[in-house]
Amino acid sequence: MNHYFEIKDLKVGFKTFEGQKRVLDIEHLAIQKGEAYGLIGESGSGKTVLALTILKLLTMPPAIVESGKILFNGMDLITKSEHDMRLIRGKKISMIFQDPMSTLNPVFTVGEQLRQVIQHNRGVAKKEAAKIALETIDLVKLPDAKSIIDKYPHELSGGQRQRIIIAIALSCGAELLIADEPTRNLDVTIQAGILKLIAELQRELKVSVLFIANNPGLVSAVCNHVAILQEGKIVEKGTVRDVLRNPIHPYTTALLNTIPKSKKEKIDLKKLIATDGAECNGGCTYYARCLKRQGNCQNQSPTLHPIEGTHFVACHLGLEGSEP
Ligand SMILES: Nc1ncnc2c1ncn2[C@@H]1O[C@H](COP(=O)(O)OP(=O)(O)O)[C@@H](O)[C@H]1O
Ligand SMILES: [Mg+2]
Repeated sequence: MNHYFEIKDLKVGFKTFEGQKRVLDIEHLAIQKGEAYGLIGESGSGKTVLALTILKLLTMPPAIVESGKILFNGMDLITKSEHDMRLIRGKKISMIFQDPMSTLNPVFTVGEQLRQVIQHNRGVAKKEAAKIALETIDLVKLPDAKSIIDKYPHELSGGQRQRIIIAIALSCGAELLIADEPTRNLDVTIQAGILKLIAELQRELKVSVLFIANNPGLVSAVCNHVAILQEGKIVEKGTVRDVLRNPIHPYTTALLNTIPKSKKEKIDLKKLIATDGAECNGGCTYYARCLKRQGNCQNQSPTLHPIEGTHFVACHLGLEGSEP
């Protein structure tokens, strides 16, 4: 089956003083056209490295793409030249970074920044670019586009800045949007507005979205499919209903248990992590922290296997005949 966007056997590492360190090992991930796909993992699990690898923005060296394919509309991005990637970035695939303040240039107004991107990527004259810039600000539902356009980034709130970043990302007609923890530095109430906007734009513009977050709650608000990333590996994937309502991997369960169900609930961290210092020996990367580990987990690395429909899990627990 041909997918609109597909990652196959992608392995990415970094050269460090202690030797080469593998940070991504993705067997398979596929996103369909117009779909919002969530990627959840704790800090350091490799989410940003994946996003940067897709856009070939990972500074090399020390990063090394050891093997694999990233297929977008049938073409392998890994083999593309920098010249080709410049025609893809912004026009076909865009990215919203974690921190809106460091993405925007503080010395230019937001209007100038939008206009520059539009002129450069669409090859239109300055006047036409200014018109598109205004339309794009309307698109991200910021009121009074004419006054916003003349403001500098520091004159806007965090939520307004993130809307401008989304406007820049979508201003050149990108069909795949990679949103890397877009609400990370925002207040909870502002977060909800940005999530709603991304969900609305995804439906209205029919763009595909790879929505990256460390909080499963955010992903379920926007996405229909989700993958759980643990130390660079996908340990569970499927529909939001499969993975977040009927999780099988102990890591997914632990991630979900970190969200308090009521204001009064206190999270007992001891119940989330095994703490006897056990070390994995070529087995599951979650072994040392897993509360449900069993004998073969220490030295046998589990691969993704189907549970039902599109629900896949990489855990010996999910395998038939294994003892919990
Ligand atoms: N330039 C680098 N050199 C070495 N290791 C790196 C570099 N950048 C990221 N890493 C490592 O890659 C892993 C994944 O990082 P990252 O993708 O930023 O995590 P996340 O976005 O999920 O928080 C981490 O262990 C991090 O230490
Ligand atoms: Mg990150």
